[in-house]
Amino acid sequence: MAQIQPERNFLGLEIREPLVRYANFKAKELELTNLHYLYGNINSSLQVILQSLPLGILQWVTIQFPDPWFKRRHSKRRIVQPQLVNLLAHYLNPMGTVFLQSDIKTVAVEMVHCFQQHPNFQRKHPETWLPTNPFPVPTEREKFTLSRSQPVYRALFNLIIPPKSS
Ligand SMILES: C[S@@+](CC[C@H](N)C(=O)[O-])C[C@H]1O[C@@H](n2cnc3c(N)ncnc32)[C@H](O)[C@@H]1O
Repeated sequence: MAQIQPERNFLGLEIREPLVRYANFKAKELELTNLHYLYGNINSSLQVILQSLPLGILQWVTIQFPDPWFKRRHSKRRIVQPQLVNLLAHYLNPMGTVFLQSDIKTVAVEMVHCFQQHPNFQRKHPETWLPTNPFPVPTEREKFTLSRSQPVYRALFNLIIPPKSS
């Protein structure tokens, strides 16, 4: 994506530090100055990262194939939580979009539910899962899932009213 869209800046947040080091090494090797990865837990680090930045700075947010954390006692570790959705509502541009996808229907349904519960987000195509990825580059997990002819559950959300800053 960073190669295809040099006019955009891409930021990745990943909880496994070796992956972050490797990904930044690859970005440097490819001389990509519009791509950077940060090490952190999205549910605690994202607020710290964003708080020094202007509201509405994010144009696209993608949450793709998050770890499912099937066990009930682990459900708090799931990435899409009401606090994250609220944070994104503040830092997403009024024209901004959130893209969600998962190969596990219960995970996709739960993510969609969480965004639908927020008054500032509206789902595009509310009746159906999006048939294809709106981005020209699939993720590694997406390639793996599609190569096994398994379904992918996708949804897009827009901000309908930017929340009042508090
Ligand atoms: C199943 S992989 C999907 C990777 C990629 N998005 C894809 O679709 O190929 C989930 C990734 O999310 C990372 N992750 C899990 N929990 C996280 C969290 N709380 N904050 C940031 N990254 C997290 C994992 O380390 C892993 O790299």
